[in-house]
Amino acid sequence: MRKTPGSILVAGAINTDLVATMKRAPEAGETVTGTTFAIHGGGKAANQAVAVARSGGYASLVGAIGDDDFGRDRLSDLDRDGVDTDWVMVHGRDPSGVALILVEDGGENRIAYVPGATLAVPPDHAEAALAALRPAFVLATNELPRDTLKILFTAARKAAIHVVFNATPDPAMARNLIEDVSTLIVNEGEAAILLGRKAIGDLHDAVAALRRLGPETVVLTLGAQGVITGSAEGVEEYRPPPVTVVDTTGAGDTFCGAFVARLTRESKVEDAVRYAVNASALSVTRPGAQPSIPTRDEVLAMSLTPAGCASP
Ligand code: RIB
Repeated sequence: MRKTPGSILVAGAINTDLVATMKRAPEAGETVTGTTFAIHGGGKAANQAVAVARSGGYASLVGAIGDDDFGRDRLSDLDRDGVDTDWVMVHGRDPSGVALILVEDGGENRIAYVPGATLAVPPDHAEAALAALRPAFVLATNELPRDTLKILFTAARKAAIHVVFNATPDPAMARNLIEDVSTLIVNEGEAAILLGRKAIGDLHDAVAALRRLGPETVVLTLGAQGVITGSAEGVEEYRPPPVTVVDTTGAGDTFCGAFVARLTRESKVEDAVRYAVNASALSVTRPGAQPSIPTRDEVLAMSLTPAGCASP
């Protein structure tokens, strides 16, 4: 077990994912017989911290669990992956976060998420973690309480720490957080909501509009269509290799963690994006969120094999 305080502070939820697979998800009032059931580690921030670790980076996770078996199991998982959990609070009052996930044939999912203890992380805890860890990057989802994220981002910006914000879930609630963000990562739906548009419209125009909200760099993730980045250097498009999709849960988290882990090593942002696009493509070929996150060796091996190599 490797346990090193990280150069990447990851902030957000640690969940237990209860996952059922089925041909199609039920309509309201309907019962559909499923095919498999599994319990995995999840939570967007926990997934991102695992992706950092499996990509060879050092992640310290700031979040909370309840004083229960789910929470203890999640800490053991994270420990096994070498994620530093010293800044994970254990709450006596609130239960650990849980996500109920239905995965349909074809890999699409539906998620009901109950944050529990995650919403009990106070601003001073996040500030203290930042001051103690002095990370090179803060990587955050929109899962901790708003005032906690606001204070974390402001303190990080003041200390010249690069803030990477994956504005999910609930992007509408994330608008006032964006001014202190250096890199914003969103998908099409989240981008449209942040921009107050019904639909995203022209993708390059959306990236430019998101940059005008404050972030120097915007990364727009487009699922099977890849990624568009926008920065002062211009706009770039990246396509993923063709893969057989089994389960898309955690693909965005894999991208974010892999991207920031590589940013701490690569001199070029483009190389970090290319690596993260491949990591994310590989993750959708396997079931589950955390179990599907690939290691650095697996991702690097992809560039040596022909397209389609990522099929299980
Ligand atoms: O992004 C995937 C994650 O979202 C799952 O692991 C689940 O916990 C939900 O919060």
